Amino acid sequence: MGEVYALAIESSCDETSMSIIKNGCEEIATVVLSQIDIHKNYGGVVPEIASRSHIENITIVLDELLTKSKIKLEDITLIAVTYGPGLIGSLLIGVQAAKTIALVTGKPLVPIHHIAGHIYANNLEERLQFPLIALVVSGGHTELIYMKEDYSFKKIGGTLDDAVGECYDKVAKTIGLQYPGGPLVDKLAHTGKDTYDLPYPLDDKTYNFSFSGIKSAVINLVHNENQRGHTINKEDLCATFQNRVVTVITKKTMHALKEYGVKNLIVAGGVSANQGLRESLTEACKENNVHLSFPRLSYCTDNAAMIGAAAYFAYQKGIRADLTLTAVATDTIYND
Ligand code: KG4
Ligand code: ZN
Repeated sequence: MGEVYALAIESSCDETSMSIIKNGCEEIATVVLSQIDIHKNYGGVVPEIASRSHIENITIVLDELLTKSKIKLEDITLIAVTYGPGLIGSLLIGVQAAKTIALVTGKPLVPIHHIAGHIYANNLEERLQFPLIALVVSGGHTELIYMKEDYSFKKIGGTLDDAVGECYDKVAKTIGLQYPGGPLVDKLAHTGKDTYDLPYPLDDKTYNFSFSGIKSAVINLVHNENQRGHTINKEDLCATFQNRVVTVITKKTMHALKEYGVKNLIVAGGVSANQGLRESLTEACKENNVHLSFPRLSYCTDNAAMIGAAAYFAYQKGIRADLTLTAVATDTIYND
């Protein structure tokens, strides 16, 4: 196979993004247009506003990408797009744009699962080494995945209820922080102390996660303290919450690596930007001689560069779609 230039589109939530990635590892150019400033006025992503904004932004993003990359559409090898999971109205805009470009250029269309994208964000840092365990922690997912080779995904554990990022955002909202609250909770946690009485979330020997209990515990604690006229120390509450969550995630991840006899760990998704999680996993991996990789901070959250990286490997596996491709709100990547 000669050089592969993937033009990738990601629009699953509130970022309109396009990227050109060479051979699954080299970034030629990326444009990310975030809608956070619009949605934060509502305390979270409003799906209808998100899809309307994608319609307004998508051609602007494409023009900017082609100008920035100095690459012509005819020089692109394939068109890649996130087809799911995500917000259906948002996904549809990206899928429609990808199908239109594929139709006009005659280039192959490669459908990419959003989580495969998050995982392959790590391939933009260094070549993935197999077998590996991928810890996927985002606003919609909390999963442990075993990969024996490229584009082979076996789920070994996941959340029974809320995703970890969702829980961070809810805790943030409860103490009056703006959406998306995850990064703010992370920041406050670093200046606070672990002083509050919160449970360790599903601290057992399985690879499953559950965050609804600790979420309710935070809501109840804040409610009770307010009723007593006490003020909450936000830094200490964030430090306690983060400590509980990070401790359990680290423990389960290290357990999985040991059980599967794997020496490579990659972390993916929005919450992989979390400093507390990065520190805890770095220390545990050093102790256990595990090779650890994180995406750069800007590619932890949604972007099309990661979709372009995944596309190279999906393309090599023969994954293609035709113009009947449609978006799906929920779907799993597991094929092993
Ligand atoms: O991957 P992503 O952009 O979207 C999904 O696919 O869900 O992840 C967004 C999530 C949000 O819940 C956000 O609060 C969380 O990632 N997040 C963080 C941090 N940065 C982003 N959570 C905790 N600590 C952070 N530093
Ligand atoms: Zn995501």
